[in-house]
Amino acid sequence: MSKLKIEDLTLIFGKEKEEALSLLKKGKSKAEILKETGCTVAVKNASFNIEKGEFFVIMGLSGSGKSSLLRCLNRLIEPTSGNVILNDVNITILGDDELQQVRRKEMAMVFQNFGLLPHRSVLENVAFGLELQNVPLEDREQKSREVIELVSLQGYENQHTASLSGGMQQRVGLARALANDPEILLMDEAFSALDPLIRTQMQDELIDLQKTMQKTIVFITHDLDEAIRLGDRIAIMKDGEVIQVGTPEDILTNPATDYVSSFVEKVDRKSIITAASLMFDKPTVAIFKKDGVEGSLRKMRTSGLVSLPAVSVDKHFLGFVYLKDILEIKAQGHQTIEKAIITDVPVAYPETTVEQMLPFIAENGRAVPVVDRTTNKLLGIVAQTSLLIETTGASWENVTGNTIDNLQKEII
Ligand SMILES: Nc1ncnc2c1ncn2[C@@H]1O[C@H](COP(=O)(O)OP(=O)(O)OP(=O)(O)O)[C@@H](O)[C@H]1O
Ligand SMILES: [Mg+2]
Repeated sequence: MSKLKIEDLTLIFGKEKEEALSLLKKGKSKAEILKETGCTVAVKNASFNIEKGEFFVIMGLSGSGKSSLLRCLNRLIEPTSGNVILNDVNITILGDDELQQVRRKEMAMVFQNFGLLPHRSVLENVAFGLELQNVPLEDREQKSREVIELVSLQGYENQHTASLSGGMQQRVGLARALANDPEILLMDEAFSALDPLIRTQMQDELIDLQKTMQKTIVFITHDLDEAIRLGDRIAIMKDGEVIQVGTPEDILTNPATDYVSSFVEKVDRKSIITAASLMFDKPTVAIFKKDGVEGSLRKMRTSGLVSLPAVSVDKHFLGFVYLKDILEIKAQGHQTIEKAIITDVPVAYPETTVEQMLPFIAENGRAVPVVDRTTNKLLGIVAQTSLLIETTGASWENVTGNTIDNLQKEII
């Protein structure tokens, strides 16, 4: 079940909101609406779902509407139209008290500039939200000490936050958000102010935290590398519109628009593209013992291939058979292909990246079998050509006239 549903959300800044909204419905652009009404369309008809436990990243250039969209989720800014639905509750129609509860219990915000109370201690800052909720002193201190440990700040409980480094202040901000044990963390450019080393470290820690605590995280960044590193899925925004939502791999392999392509152009694809997206899932195979020597030779003749993956009748991957070996065992009078199966073959799993498959390029010219990690069933093959193309950064469009079918024929 979906955790957060964002339905046709629009946010307009300015006095003539109704006028701007009706122009928007007529299909006028952000620039036209600004000119005609003086209003800024910060978010335009955004619709997407965020799943429970998902690390969801909103990314886009400055002014694209990321913060506006995030703030509409807990109504720090009132959306002009549309709905935000959390666990079947429509946040957009809640009264003040109920909204307060949602902000305290369900969604906590972590800000870029930390938003800490400088003259209070780390412990007091972390406990602040609980204090507002009148949680008894002992309980709030205990809870705060727990989350302080989670963000590795133990030992600093009594320091004033003003005396801490940026990275440590951000940890305090994070701990304060976690102290309420919210289901959803909203993080607006939380790491942007940190220097690169600390930033990477915080990213790693946040990934770990999310895994162990199973939080849903909505994380804003204008940095594509950060988005790719952190996001289970990424929403890309431009001029107030969400133009694509997908996994990092979806976005790299199927960019929805030229804008997205130009954005992702410089990304190092090797560590993102996986065997699952490169593989051809209907390879010709020799089925042991269904296809004997003759059957396998027939398949090689009709497909034009000089080697085939060998699988059992229930599709378990056994190895590869080569034409020359099959001819040799045929001459020796064998009828099954058993003696010709080469079993010493490295395999990839669907999630194996191009980078991890690089050694398979050097090793031999044979396609890379992709198998299910638990069942060892053959799911498909990755042609050497696909691997080489990904490694050299060329795209399919550049390989004129080649389809994945004849590429695989060329290769195995
Ligand atoms: N309070 C406001 N009043 C009027 N316009 C605003 C206000 N806040 C944001 N905007 C406008 O709304 C649009 C989206 O701004 P927003 O701050 O959401 O972008 P952003 O993607 O978060 O940018 P950044 O990366 O710089 O933080 C921009 O055109 C901005 O000028
Ligand atoms: Mg912003």
